[in-house]
Parts: sequence; C-alpha cells; structure tokens
Amino acid sequence: MNIQHHISLKPYNTFGLDVKSLMFSEVNSLKELKDTLTLNQLEQFMFLGGGSNVLFTKDFDGLVIKNNIKGKEIIEETDEYVKLKIYSGENWHKLVMYCVERNWGGIENLSLIPGTVGAAPMQNIGAYGVELEKVFIELEAFNLNTFEIEVFKKTQCEFGYRESVFKRKLKNQYFIFSVTLLLQKQPVISAEYGDIQTILAEKGIQKENASIKNISDAVITIRQSKLPDPKVLGNSGSFFKNPQITVEHFEKLKLTHPHIKGFEQENGIKVPAAWLIEQSGWKGKRIGNTGSHEKQALVLVNYGGATGNEVWDLAQEIIKSVKTQFDIELEAEVNVI
Ligand code: EPU
Repeated sequence: MNIQHHISLKPYNTFGLDVKSLMFSEVNSLKELKDTLTLNQLEQFMFLGGGSNVLFTKDFDGLVIKNNIKGKEIIEETDEYVKLKIYSGENWHKLVMYCVERNWGGIENLSLIPGTVGAAPMQNIGAYGVELEKVFIELEAFNLNTFEIEVFKKTQCEFGYRESVFKRKLKNQYFIFSVTLLLQKQPVISAEYGDIQTILAEKGIQKENASIKNISDAVITIRQSKLPDPKVLGNSGSFFKNPQITVEHFEKLKLTHPHIKGFEQENGIKVPAAWLIEQSGWKGKRIGNTGSHEKQALVLVNYGGATGNEVWDLAQEIIKSVKTQFDIELEAEVNVI
C-alpha cells in the first residue's frame, strides 16, 4: 500500500480539473482497502472510480482512495443466461465490450459510458432506453463502520432515475465492492430510441434481425457524434438531470413554447434539460475556459485550464436562466465537491 502526498487529481477526473489531494492511494483488493482505512483514521476520505461524475471545486484536504479492485466471476450459467459478478474497479465500457463479444445481452445500450462498474449502481446509469437496474441482481458493499461486507438485493438499492440508496440515505457509508448482473444468451434488443433506429435503418439492418453488436455499435456512433471525448475536451457527460414537472406546468409552458419536448412519466412529464438550456441561449456558449458544448447543451466542458468554480459558476448562471424562463429548477447530476 502506497500513500502519495499532495498529488494533482487532474489525471483522475474526466473534467481534467487540476486540484490537489492531501493524500492519495490506490487499492487493489479488499484487504488493501481495509488496511488503508485502518492506518489512516482520517475525518476526510473519498473514493474515486473513473472520476467521470465529479466536479472538484477545491483541493481535497483528505485521502482519495482510487478503486482498482478488478476481476470477473461467472456465478451461474445456463443455456439462457449468465450471472456475472464483476469487481467494482473494472472499467464499465470494457465490461460492455466483454459481454458484447460473447453475445451476452443486457448492457449493450450502455456502451461507452465512462467510469467504473462500482459507480454504475451508485447512480443507476442509463442511456438509450436502458438503465442498469434492468439487469441488476445484487451487489456487495463494504460497510465503512462495521468493516463487514453486506449484500444488497435490487429493491434494497432503491433505484430511481440516476438515483440509488447510496446517493441518499446511505451516502458515504459504503464502498461498493462487487456487482452481479443477469445477462441473456438469447438477447432481446432494446431499439426504441429514435437515433438507434435511424442508424440501423441507414445500415439496412431490420430491427428484428439486429444483434447486440449492432446496437452497441449504434450507441457508440451516437455518443461519439454528440458527446465530447473527455480525453480531448474535459467534461463529465450530462451535467444536469432531466427535470420532471407536473402536467399542469407542462401544459402552461406549451402555451408560450409550443415546441417544448416532454416525455410522460408515472407522475409528471420529464423535460429534456438540454432543450431548456438551448432555448435559454446557452448552447455552444463559451465563458472563459468553460462552456456548454456546441453539440449537446447538457454537457459542460473544460476548454483547458478551467477551475471547478468556473464550471460551477456557469452552472449557476444556466440554472438561473432556465428558472427565469421556464420556472424549472435544474439539479446537478454530477457530485460537486
Ligand atoms: N436536445 C436539445 N438540445 C441539445 C441536445 C438535445 O434540444 O443540445 C433535445 C433533443 O432533441 C432530444 C432531447 O433533448 O429531444 C434529449 O436529448 P438526448 O437524447 O441527447 O439525451 P439527453 O436527455 O440530453 C440523456 C442522459 C444521457 C444519455 C442520453 C441518451 C440524463 C441526464 N442524460 O441525455 O446520459 O446518454 O439521455 O439516453 O438523463 C449522462 O448521464 O452523463 C449521459 C450522457
């Protein structure tokens, strides 16, 4: 176990923000995690996976623990399905590629999402019509108070839209150690999302005959065309959640904004934050070293040398504009530290 001091976290967050951490350690096993926590009885520590959903607004005055716990195990396999346990430090997209190569279906719509496997249940990652909870069986979490491993079944995780119990009630109390997923050997594809259908049609692939590789390729094409590559332009994907408003509010907005988009939910209408931001005049706008991306208004970017506070100030301006114009309060999706 090796603790480094005063290191820059720039390589460890996809926004590319140059903040410092008082201490930094990578853990490769549960034992290393326990040793690190026992030896450093610090008030302040935090876990980092891929650093793809975090905005650092200041130096971190504690210990950053980078999760590097890797491995996969087949728990059960039949002609129909595979139950696969994956350790939390594995890269999410590599896992998706591993499953696509074997034609194990279920997570192909979640191709190219940056980050680690452990972060996936934290916020119930979702894209192109599929959320993690669809394939989720259970996870093992390390209780930071008792030092015991506990199993959380799906209902115990209280998944919601970009939500789980680990972001709410149990925040900062657990370290996610492994995740077990149910993958289908006779996959049923999800191609409801308009852009996926367009790409399949362009390639002359019938929806009924599409393979999970076709879906994964389509998702990768869509993401690459809209979302900036963090290696080239620092960002953390969608900066805000898509807000949900009441039907009455939506109907009222429709009178003044007839082109407003909305997706019906169980108890309200989900409105695309990207559309609200674009209508408020922010799409593609650059302020100093930061801005809203020209191809996807919901993505805030670091053009180089931005500070977390600069990004956060921009976010506040956007929130204000959207509130004034639509009376909707945008909520950040990223964790602000
Ligand atoms: N739109 C605009 N302006 C834009 C971009 C989009 O008006 O600049 C409109 C589009 O016309 C579309 C709607 O907004 O009707 C939705 O856009 P898109 O399909 O690109 O998805 P999104 O709602 O902006 C969400 C997720 C993404 C995920 C995509 C695809 C959230 C916060 N974001 O974005 O997730 O990849 O759907 O399913 O739910 C992430 O979480 O980091 C992320 C990238």
